[in-house]
Amino acid sequence: MFLVVWAQVLFLDGKDRLQQRLREHELDTECLVNLTPRQFVMPGLVDCHIHSPQLAITALGTDKGLLDWLTTYTYPAEARFADHDFAHQAHHKTVRRTLRGGTTLASYYSTIHTDTTLLLCQAADELGQRALVGKVNMDLIAPEFYRETTQQSVAETERFLDEVLSYKSGLVTPVITPRFAPSCTLPLMTKLGEIAKERNIPIQTHLSETVEEIETVMKLHPGHQSYTEVYDAAGLLGPKTILGHCIHLSDKEIDTLKSRDCGLVHCACSNNTLRSGVMDIRRLMDRGLKLGLGTDMAGGYTTSMLASIRHSVDVSNMCAIHSHNKQRQNGEHQQASNHTTDGSPPYRPLTMAEAFRLATLDGSSVLGQNCGNFEPGREFDGLLIDPEVKDSPLDLFDFDTPDDVVQKFLYTGDDRNISKVYVQGREVVSRTE
Ligand code: GUN
Ligand code: FE
Repeated sequence: MFLVVWAQVLFLDGKDRLQQRLREHELDTECLVNLTPRQFVMPGLVDCHIHSPQLAITALGTDKGLLDWLTTYTYPAEARFADHDFAHQAHHKTVRRTLRGGTTLASYYSTIHTDTTLLLCQAADELGQRALVGKVNMDLIAPEFYRETTQQSVAETERFLDEVLSYKSGLVTPVITPRFAPSCTLPLMTKLGEIAKERNIPIQTHLSETVEEIETVMKLHPGHQSYTEVYDAAGLLGPKTILGHCIHLSDKEIDTLKSRDCGLVHCACSNNTLRSGVMDIRRLMDRGLKLGLGTDMAGGYTTSMLASIRHSVDVSNMCAIHSHNKQRQNGEHQQASNHTTDGSPPYRPLTMAEAFRLATLDGSSVLGQNCGNFEPGREFDGLLIDPEVKDSPLDLFDFDTPDDVVQKFLYTGDDRNISKVYVQGREVVSRTE
């Protein structure tokens, strides 16, 4: 028996060790007795940025830019969540979908409606997904039918926090969710920052997703040097702050985010789909920022975190190609020392192993949770992967190594290969159901 570790993946060649670990987590290990040598258990996937109410508009309006898409598709879709029955059904549908795809932990944006946002909390709790859930705040640029006054927004946030915290769910954490600076006044953001600090609650919002958005922010909130500075002035930036996108940041803004120890979320699918921009994750990794991945469904057209992993690698490869071409245009050639003529090292695109870590352990850390790998002391959120299931999309060969199998799963696998999903050691999805 030996244990093969591939970026925290535990192969069942190391069954004894794994079973011992699972027993520590009081997991029923019976299901592991007859495993094939190629089945493996990996940490659950962590989606650091997803909009539950946007499932209904998945893949729609992708010809629009962000601000146009929000007005035309998103706000009308979210306004439907005033309806209790519709919201109950729709939020359950999202959670069922994401869990089925192996997302064991997600940070959700809901809508401005407190009561139906509580239904999203209930869906996560009932279906067994670990979740951060936010009632969205909007008191500035927003349509008449989908906006709050500043007072309402603050009062409803307090009520939401009271409700969720009194519920004492082991799975659901409330998160304060000012949508983004164009749709929130500075007094609202400041008040939300104060509440977050007083009650030790995480905060999530969007930052620097498109150039048009940044221009809007600078007009709406004059007197600040940058978008990041607006949030900083409102007291929204801290170690429990989760910032989606962060594409167009200056070095100074990165310094501020680093000094505040914020978590940044790379939403590669959405950034491509809405043509928001190319986020250079290596630049942020090299600066030591806390990073995770997000689907940003429905800016992104899929709830799949496997797709997020692939998209983040694809985008990073594009950055590498772009950087290489630029160096060639500048007449620079890679030297034997592996350095360009100006002395800078060549661009290092994101590896699959790094993307995997971002989608598991790093995401868990951005969301302030104690899961993401199988180290002793961490809660057990895991997936049982069957690469050889009957309708598997994977093409395996006898000579594939365990590393090859994991790599093939991450690139070409899907829900069909996810046989079981465990959260807090409890089986919450079984493909035989
Ligand atoms: N910025 C503000 N709201 C949203 C949203 O719903 N989706 C995306 N992608 N960006 C936003
Ligand atoms: Fe988003």
